[in-house]
Amino acid sequence: MNQLRQPIVTVCGHVDHGKTSLLDRFRGTSLQGDEAGGITQRISFTKYPFEQIIKSCPLIKERGVNLEIPGFLFIDTPGHAAFTNLRKRGGSLADLAIVVISIKEGIKPQTAEVFNILRENKTPFIIALNKVDTLSGWRNSNEGMQASLERQPMHVRQEFDEAFLTFQGALQEHGFESSLFYEMSDFQKQVAVVPCSAKTGEGINELLFMLCGLCQRFLKERLALTDVAKGVLLEMKKDKSLEYAEAILYDGKLNIGDEIVVANMGEPVVTKVRSLSEIQPLSTKYSAVDGVGAATGVRMHLTNKEGLISGMPFQLVSDDLEKVKQQFKKDISSALQTDKQGVIIKADSLGSLEALITLLKQERIQILKAGVGPIGKTDVLSAKANLDINQLDAIVLGFNTELDDDVEVPKGVKVLTNSVIYKLIEDVSLWRKEREAEIVREKMLGLATICKMEILHKYVFRNSNPAIFGVKILGGKARINLPIIDDLGEQVSRVKSLQADKSTVDEASEGQELAIAFPGIAFDRRLKENTCLYSDISESQFKEFKKNKDLLTGHELQILQEIMVIKQKTKSDWGV
Ligand code: GTP
Ligand code: MG
Repeated sequence: MNQLRQPIVTVCGHVDHGKTSLLDRFRGTSLQGDEAGGITQRISFTKYPFEQIIKSCPLIKERGVNLEIPGFLFIDTPGHAAFTNLRKRGGSLADLAIVVISIKEGIKPQTAEVFNILRENKTPFIIALNKVDTLSGWRNSNEGMQASLERQPMHVRQEFDEAFLTFQGALQEHGFESSLFYEMSDFQKQVAVVPCSAKTGEGINELLFMLCGLCQRFLKERLALTDVAKGVLLEMKKDKSLEYAEAILYDGKLNIGDEIVVANMGEPVVTKVRSLSEIQPLSTKYSAVDGVGAATGVRMHLTNKEGLISGMPFQLVSDDLEKVKQQFKKDISSALQTDKQGVIIKADSLGSLEALITLLKQERIQILKAGVGPIGKTDVLSAKANLDINQLDAIVLGFNTELDDDVEVPKGVKVLTNSVIYKLIEDVSLWRKEREAEIVREKMLGLATICKMEILHKYVFRNSNPAIFGVKILGGKARINLPIIDDLGEQVSRVKSLQADKSTVDEASEGQELAIAFPGIAFDRRLKENTCLYSDISESQFKEFKKNKDLLTGHELQILQEIMVIKQKTKSDWGV
């Protein structure tokens, strides 16, 4: 059997549930306290050597386990942004995951998203049910989690059991069977739940033990090292003026001077590794090296970094360069497959773009164009072109990316951005729903108009031919050509023109005072005794309004009611 590499383990879960604190416990560090606001801002690695596993997990020696892996590569992820979908060819970059869940809070939206992605990638995972020390009356102990649970006071045990059962039920709704780690009967079918506390350190031993167990049992083949260096670019960064790529090497060995091929949106990029530094064990610092072996976190200066983007896979150049290039091209185009029509989407990396595509597909929202980078002029113009096809598609979505400063958003086009993927999905669904209602409303109001206006008797500018006088719009809209009735339901005339502030307008809305012109009547004979005028609507238009009454404002509805009462004066079943 080949030598095994470090399994890559992502630590993921909802914000503040204790991911970084647990890793601190694993490492024996206190990095969580150094974070700005105690919040993880971006992905970071921890190289976790064999010796540290043995030190932090005495169970391995006690149980006489022959541990074959050389350590772990942990990836800490930020809980506030989307769980970045770390992908490589054919699935997840993570070999395993620890999903951290606070026992007091249970499964939150971000946790649910994590479950979706783990399921999709078929990534095995265990659950750290963290913060057990916050159960009221919890007694610390150093005899191991199982014994500790058994010896808690009755009310604590009860509180734990209740929380656990609720959690287990919720997990089942997400399609996962689970069991407490010491009651596991089938590792293929059940997810192991390890109660723990990053604060007291309880359960840490058991968490590591379960991780090692999963690796030994299920991942040996996956962890076998080959010669060809393979990895994924996580981020292109700048240090002073020097640009470098932060990456995970998940297979093979990589040395300074090696030539690699990196996938790209178009033609893959061939470039050389000019210098290399590797993450130091149990630290977030990097140090310069000549060569590295998987799995590890590296920073590389590359000779050609033209157009390189986050999330792209890379591979050492060997004899079959053309084959690898073709494969990369095929992978990227199938990952970014889009529809004939739909919305425009952008994201900061290939992984997040893929995650967004997956979630939009689940929502049955079609995608016309998908790309990596900030939202630019061509994106908003594509959205604008959608206005003529489907107004609901006149939108650009940006996940973890923003609108370029100098881009002007055309009228009718919406741009939505967010760094939380489920918020973005929520926002776009809401926008589409509102827009849809607006479109129906516009269509309805295009056929008929609700309007009530008060006659301002002080302002009669012309008695007839046409009669011109002041009105105040009390509700709805007045338009040119609108047929008008009085408060007895008698026809008056059609609006000939509207004049506000000395200029002619096509439309006037609630609150506006303006001059209105009616042909065919003389003011003194026809309107002298009247106070209010209404738009005339037909009975069928009235019924149409009634059917869609949730699209009208409360005030519009009230006016509609008044019109009905007026109409019923001459026809008692009008509108019924
Ligand atoms: P993000 O990186 O922002 O997603 O959060 P995180 O999941 O990394 O959580 P973090 O480790 O930053 O912990 C959040 C807060 O919970 C901190 O104040 C921790 O001290 C506290 N905390 C973490 N684990 C425990 C625990 O087991 N018990 C108690 N009582 N507090 C904990
Ligand atoms: Mg954190």
